[in-house]
Amino acid sequence: MFLEKMLQSQGFGSRKHCQQLIKNGAIAVQGEVITNAKHKLNLKNLSFSVYGESFDYREKVYIALNKPQNYECSHQATHHFSVFDLFDDALINRGLQCVGRLDQDTSGLLLLTDDGQFLQALTHPKKHVAKIYRMQTADPVTEQQIQQLRQGVELRKESGVFAATEVIQHAENELQLTIHQGVYHQVKRMLAAVGNKVERLHRQQIGALALPELEQGKWIYLTDHQVELAKTRMSI
Ligand code: URA
Repeated sequence: MFLEKMLQSQGFGSRKHCQQLIKNGAIAVQGEVITNAKHKLNLKNLSFSVYGESFDYREKVYIALNKPQNYECSHQATHHFSVFDLFDDALINRGLQCVGRLDQDTSGLLLLTDDGQFLQALTHPKKHVAKIYRMQTADPVTEQQIQQLRQGVELRKESGVFAATEVIQHAENELQLTIHQGVYHQVKRMLAAVGNKVERLHRQQIGALALPELEQGKWIYLTDHQVELAKTRMSI
């Protein structure tokens, strides 16, 4: 691939802008400044720098973010910060999208990608990818509420029943649920349907991928293995 095309694919702007960067001597490949936009590159294990900042070439990006509260999963956040504020322009330019959404007041594992197939594989309702949430509840969780959550509840304006495949009570007011659908405010509405209320919600796992050890607001690129773990459905 030509250097100008590679830069463009990594989110460094239009072809013209990338040509200008190259002409300005801003780009080094494997430590060597290259000023020829048509320089041919082998993409395997390619690293390069832009004005001294290093990057690895990635055909697609797969990211795990530990989402803080008060961040919205939309580009045009209205009342809070946007999760996209946590990423640099090159990532945004290559079309980074959230894989599903978390509410602004929910924290924890949020995946982002520019791979439409991966996004579809994780969010399509028929794929039933497991999501594990931990929550603080307003009132102590009763045995009856746990049974109702396991059996399934109806949610207004949604068809079908919504059940948790696993319910673990960690403390009187602390619950862990595994769900396989992803309708709007699902967990909060499920708890409301059984007569309780979610005070604090945190996503712990998607598929077989647990939230990596990350401070809130920090993110990592997923390894190929972690990408596969996220796609792992887990039994219903
Ligand atoms: N269910 C909710 O109610 N909120 C979220 O952010 C995720 C799941």
